[in-house]
Amino acid sequence: MRKIILIACMSKNKAIGNKGNLVINLKGDMQFFKEKTISHSVVMGRKTWDSLPKKHKPLPYRTNYVLSKKENSTIDKVVTDWKNSGRNDNLYVIGGEEIYNKFLDLNLFDEAYITTVNQHIFEADTYFPYQKLLSKTKSMKIIESIKDRYSIIKFYS
Ligand SMILES: NC(=O)c1ccc[n+]([C@@H]2O[C@H](COP(=O)([O-])OP(=O)(O)OC[C@H]3O[C@@H](n4cnc5c(N)ncnc54)[C@H](OP(=O)(O)O)[C@@H]3O)[C@@H](O)[C@H]2O)c1
Repeated sequence: MRKIILIACMSKNKAIGNKGNLVINLKGDMQFFKEKTISHSVVMGRKTWDSLPKKHKPLPYRTNYVLSKKENSTIDKVVTDWKNSGRNDNLYVIGGEEIYNKFLDLNLFDEAYITTVNQHIFEADTYFPYQKLLSKTKSMKIIESIKDRYSIIKFYS
């Protein structure tokens, strides 16, 4: 079955971004993100798209969808296009905060992979809506745990 899957990397205090950039740059997580999303579809908010370095834009070997009200690219249109694409891929929701919130509010996800780095980051302006995710998931499983550094947890809706 094809799935819609949230994927995010946050600090202990749930920070994900600052001034349009990522606040965490973790090799293990980048590798995990790549392994999961390659050959699938990804959907992101326009601000996250803007933040991608030119050389990574669009994210290679993935169908990239960008949500923008200004461009009339809506969640409904993107999800419909993905469903009708004839591909056999998953749709990874890759952020940022606004977009995670929208998919959670709509209960439009099957699973989530959340990397939590064992560090507080105070210079941040965007956060992962973790309490909302917890309130909408039934179970979780630890995928990877690197002592004192980070853990990756999979959530099931
Ligand atoms: N650590 C992580 O895992 C991670 C992942 C991704 C991003 N980030 C960080 O998160 C930050 C960006 O997050 P953000 O919340 O500011 O922005 P965002 O979610 O990336 O994008 C927001 C934009 O998405 C569009 N949008 C929002 N709701 C929409 C809807 N219902 N339909 C269509 N378009 C919609 C709007 O674009 P228009 O203004 O064009 O209408 C809006 O301005 C950056 O710092 C980024 O580096 C972190």
